[in-house]
Amino acid sequence: MDFKREIADCLQKLTNSECDFYSDIEIPREKSFGDFSFPCFKLAKTMRQNPAKIAAELASAEFPPVIKKAEATGAFLNFFLDGAFYSKQTISQILKEGADYGKSDEGNGKTVLIDYSSPNIAKRFHVGHLYSTIIGASLRNIYGFLGYKTVGANFLGDWGTQFGKLIVAYKKWGSLEEINKNGVLEMERLYVKFHEEAKSDPTLEEEARSWQMSVQAGDSEAEKLWSLFKETTLKEYEKQYVRLGTSFDTFRGEKYYNDLSEEVVRILDEHHLLKESDGAQIVDLSDFNNMQPCIIIRKDGGSVYATRDIAAAFDRYRTYNFDLALYVTDVRQSLHFAQWFKIIELLGYDWSKKLQHIPYGLLSLENGALSSREGNVVLLEDILDEAVSIVRDVIEQKNPALENKESVAEQVGVGAIVFSSLYSSRIKDSVYSLDKVLSFEGETGPYAQYTHARTASVLEKGAFNGICEDFSPLDEQAAYSVVKLLSEFGEKVKLAAERCEPFIISRYVISLAQAFNKFYHDNTILASDETVKTARLALAAATKTVLKSALALIGVQAPDKM
Ligand code: ARG
Repeated sequence: MDFKREIADCLQKLTNSECDFYSDIEIPREKSFGDFSFPCFKLAKTMRQNPAKIAAELASAEFPPVIKKAEATGAFLNFFLDGAFYSKQTISQILKEGADYGKSDEGNGKTVLIDYSSPNIAKRFHVGHLYSTIIGASLRNIYGFLGYKTVGANFLGDWGTQFGKLIVAYKKWGSLEEINKNGVLEMERLYVKFHEEAKSDPTLEEEARSWQMSVQAGDSEAEKLWSLFKETTLKEYEKQYVRLGTSFDTFRGEKYYNDLSEEVVRILDEHHLLKESDGAQIVDLSDFNNMQPCIIIRKDGGSVYATRDIAAAFDRYRTYNFDLALYVTDVRQSLHFAQWFKIIELLGYDWSKKLQHIPYGLLSLENGALSSREGNVVLLEDILDEAVSIVRDVIEQKNPALENKESVAEQVGVGAIVFSSLYSSRIKDSVYSLDKVLSFEGETGPYAQYTHARTASVLEKGAFNGICEDFSPLDEQAAYSVVKLLSEFGEKVKLAAERCEPFIISRYVISLAQAFNKFYHDNTILASDETVKTARLALAAATKTVLKSALALIGVQAPDKM
């Protein structure tokens, strides 16, 4: 039940107003100001009265049964809910709807495209792409939960001068065998070798350029090798995507869009947007806050990153007719997106408004060998493996008899990394230590997962059958705090989508886990009184459902035992 909705509808009737007060209703910080609060300032104009007087008058009106009392404090009208009624409505709904609780249909018929992860071929998957993958995957879950159709787009970095170099190095010093055996590591070795050798032999660069042209021209050997590098890298990435619980609808990358860049040039030319500058073709953006010009075609005739992004946007808009397209990359690419979004706007396409850059700050780990400060590339695989191995040891020590140990270690280890990556606003730089993120105490993934497992265990012990009639035992503060949070779930999901901030969900998960643990600490769930026991089990069951759904939205699994 959406209590805010109830209150908003009631206020609308009482004031004979046209407007919907839903978004004006606040949740007061302090309990003494009730569960919901409505600031009456907005009404002062239309009702031609002072807001405090309006609040006082409204307080004596009749409200639906869920509202125990309404009280005026200055210009605020504060609502206090009836605990037992509130619990009954909320928990019954959760028990009935299960995993669907909190979903909405606001996105029905709408499509959101999310461009995320987008790593570069022949290079290992590092921590920056990890962050993009985790944020993008979560945004997809969140929008999907709200009824949107989501399209996961992985804009592979599979184009650029490095491919010509790689081909030269492969032909001179590599072999199919080594590539099959060592994958991306071997490609990196070849790439480094190329640069070493090129220092003393400048003809190598020339050779690389010519191979690059051959890839572009569709020469069969060049294309075959390019595909080999791409497929080999993708195979390795796929393993990590499976671990992170995400997948993509399209892997069309920069090479694919490079081939479509002629259309971009033609259209920009038709709109008289191209200008020559030093032999290159650019779009002048100086009229817009003095933005730097955007190069479209380089001096040597090649496309650039922006050209390929514009080509991709054309293609994607045609294919998916999206209502929103989100690009999840680090904040250093902000100018790039601002430039080409502006170009789409200058072309007169109104869908430019649907393009949104979702920037994030830098994520780094402070833990010894994984430190990025040493200038090492921090690899996704290593971070996840290390986390899983630490959790494996903890399980071995604390709960050696646990079933499916390996799978639980994977869920908790990976979950801890994902959770902590999503615990702050995207844009904040975060440095975190593996010890902290893996701790079972504090605001961590394992703490949330542990709370979920605790609900599972008490439900099993209490043999809860999913039915509860009498909620009166929940009319006390600790239970009430849990119920209140449970009832806010749907709203939190909407807010997270609106701001593209998965951390709203992670913070919510921790609040809910803390509230539940307080309840658990203060009360014996398996009480001797059947009515009390059943009501408390119902609360545990509802908490379990919501914790699981919320964790799933941020891409964290919730094992029943750990
Ligand atoms: N491959 C790029 C990088 O590693 C990210 C691509 C992001 N997506 C896009 N459509 N530009 O920095």
